[in-house]
Amino acid sequence: MKNVILIAPPAAGKGTQAEILVNDFGYEHISMGDLLREVMASGSALGQEIKTLIDAGKLVDDELTFPLIKNKLQTIQGKPFISDGFPRTLNQAQHFETILKELNITDYVVILLNLSEEAALKRISGRLICSCGKSYNIYNDNLKPKQEGICDKCGQALVKRDDDNLTSFQQRYEIFQTNIEPILDFYRQRNKLQIVDVDRSVAEIAGSIKEIITHD
Ligand code: C5P
Ligand code: MG
Repeated sequence: MKNVILIAPPAAGKGTQAEILVNDFGYEHISMGDLLREVMASGSALGQEIKTLIDAGKLVDDELTFPLIKNKLQTIQGKPFISDGFPRTLNQAQHFETILKELNITDYVVILLNLSEEAALKRISGRLICSCGKSYNIYNDNLKPKQEGICDKCGQALVKRDDDNLTSFQQRYEIFQTNIEPILDFYRQRNKLQIVDVDRSVAEIAGSIKEIITHD
């Protein structure tokens, strides 16, 4: 199974698609957002700094994300992975390439989940999450919780992410737009890039992704 790097604007469904790949194929899910939220939840001074950046929709420094991604890749010991939320800049893409080389990983595909700004904003406003990591969307019948406001998986109350507001969304989307072309060029040059249109159902998107990862 090919390693997968998911690149996408906010709320394009990286986490949702990653979860499907984990369940169906046993991938290791590497979510930089989740790794950062774990540090945030520890309540340390660093966690507080991260929270301020995340809530404002800004990017956390490379000095912090680089060791997080490297550690995580070392922990999974060569199992196939899906990276969700890293890289988000050209510099991160270049660094990722270096780490992958060090670990002798060359077989990967980069999938851009393509979504318009309007559609992304609509998804942000309907998104609810659980502290167990599961994510829902009240505007999508396939992603609604069975019982309003309650997690299907663990029964806890669902909440909005603190960064799922208009100001933070606009900041995140702007950062995405500024960085995306150089990242895509980087992977195009390496013949690694695939584009999947995500203004479709979760199952259709998953079908397209499965075709890509099982194709030689
Ligand atoms: O991917 P996700 O939307 O969960 O990421 C949440 C936040 O984590 C981002 O908006 C950003 O503040 C931070 N992040 C980052 N650098 C990354 C990935 C996420 O700063 N490579
Ligand atoms: Mg995510």
